[in-house]
Amino acid sequence: NILLFLTILGVNWVPCVSGNLPKPTNITFLSINMKNILQWNPPEGLQGIEVTYTVQYFIYGQKKWLNKSECRNINRTYCDLSSETSDYEHQYYAKVKAIWETNCSKWAETGRFYPFLETQIGPPEVALTTDEKSISVILTAPEKWKRNPEDSSVSMQQIYSNLKYNVSIYNTKSNRMVSPKWNGIYNLCTTFCS
Ligand SMILES: *[C@@H]1O[C@H](CO)[C@@H](O)[C@H](O)[C@H]1NC(C)=O
Ligand SMILES: *[C@@H]1O[C@H](CO)[C@@H](O)[C@H](O)[C@H]1NC(C)=O
Ligand SMILES: *[C@@H]1O[C@H](CO)[C@@H](O)[C@H](O)[C@H]1NC(C)=O
Ligand SMILES: *[C@@H]1O[C@H](CO)[C@@H](O)[C@H](O)[C@H]1NC(C)=O
Ligand SMILES: *[C@@H]1O[C@H](CO)[C@@H](O)[C@H](O)[C@H]1NC(C)=O
Repeated sequence: NILLFLTILGVNWVPCVSGNLPKPTNITFLSINMKNILQWNPPEGLQGIEVTYTVQYFIYGQKKWLNKSECRNINRTYCDLSSETSDYEHQYYAKVKAIWETNCSKWAETGRFYPFLETQIGPPEVALTTDEKSISVILTAPEKWKRNPEDSSVSMQQIYSNLKYNVSIYNTKSNRMVSPKWNGIYNLCTTFCS
């Protein structure tokens, strides 16, 4: 009995038949600082049945779809593929299918995902130091996603060497926003005095 055998092995996988179960919708990568999360919406038109999902991914230029074992038969609608897509100069595809009992949907597939061009750069860290006459704003680019907390940090600035910042100063007295010509140090009196 194959099913019993799989259960004994603890393999959480039963064959499913691609039938008329509708497929997941809106599948897309949400990518911030190279943290790449595949997400999707449940299939439309399911009435009260709880489906699970299985994810596979594909490295552009290679030959086969690969399994993401942590995202097999899951009931959440996202899957962290940061590790699998961590070479940001490669391009990827991913796909997901819905499973209900022994029925499964067709695959819903992403477009080609190119982390280098598509990841969003998160906000920088901002720190202020002041003395009597000046205020310095110290900006630190966000860190790239890393596999383990103990891995050494890579700044997004190292990946995008032409990263620029847009600094504005809000004057609470005049209720005005100014964008200084930025040189890293700003003289308070040109904006804040008088
Ligand atoms: C599951 O598959 C059976 C047989 O193909 C079909 O009759 C049934 O409608 C399917 N159920 C769903 C929810 O797709
Ligand atoms: C897919 O996304 C669009 C735009 O965000 C939204 O209008 C639509 O309702 C979504 N479809 C499903 C099935 O969630
Ligand atoms: C992925 O998983 C499926 C189902 O368990 C299996 O048939 C297939 O061979 C696996 N693919 C790879 C590349 O390991
Ligand atoms: C999702 O799966 C977990 C673990 O398998 C289970 O505890 C939880 O109740 C499930 N949630 C839903 C909404 O089915
Ligand atoms: C910088 O920010 C200011 C205020 O938010 C905005 O008006 C200006 O267009 C921005 N400049 C660029 C190059 O984005």
